[in-house]
Amino acid sequence: MAKPQIYDVLHREHEEVSELFHQLEEARGAKALELFARLKQKLIPHSRAEEAVVYPRLLEESRTADNTREGIEEHKQVDKLLAELDAMTPDAEVWPAKIKVLADMVGHHVDEEEGELFPLARQVVSDRESEQLAEEFARERDAFVEDLRRADQRDAAE
Ligand SMILES: [Fe+2]
Ligand SMILES: [Fe+2]
Repeated sequence: MAKPQIYDVLHREHEEVSELFHQLEEARGAKALELFARLKQKLIPHSRAEEAVVYPRLLEESRTADNTREGIEEHKQVDKLLAELDAMTPDAEVWPAKIKVLADMVGHHVDEEEGELFPLARQVVSDRESEQLAEEFARERDAFVEDLRRADQRDAAE
């Protein structure tokens, strides 16, 4: 069987994030808090591993550099909103609005990655390299997942 390419791995995670947003937009109270925690566990390692493995490679190529820089800025906006949501609970009046804006922002970002950045990346990254990127991405992502898990345990122990 062919090894997965980086686009396959990222696409699968984009779908998982989108599904979590659908559930999160309907949820209230403790359920919303639990779904928000799951969203962060999925989205943050995804973004950090893109920044560590995928974006640096695409910044090297003139064809993909502009879209990549845009992606990096969008990640920063997403991080800002995540931090704002972290500082409140789902009973805050503004919570549903912030979740909606976050979902729109991430949806737009994913559309640009899949619709613009990846097609350009396929022109400059070979299939073989794309498979290697998929492996490196998975390694980095798993390391970030582990970091988050440790941080959560520390918080719980405090
Ligand atoms: Fe992504
Ligand atoms: Fe991204």
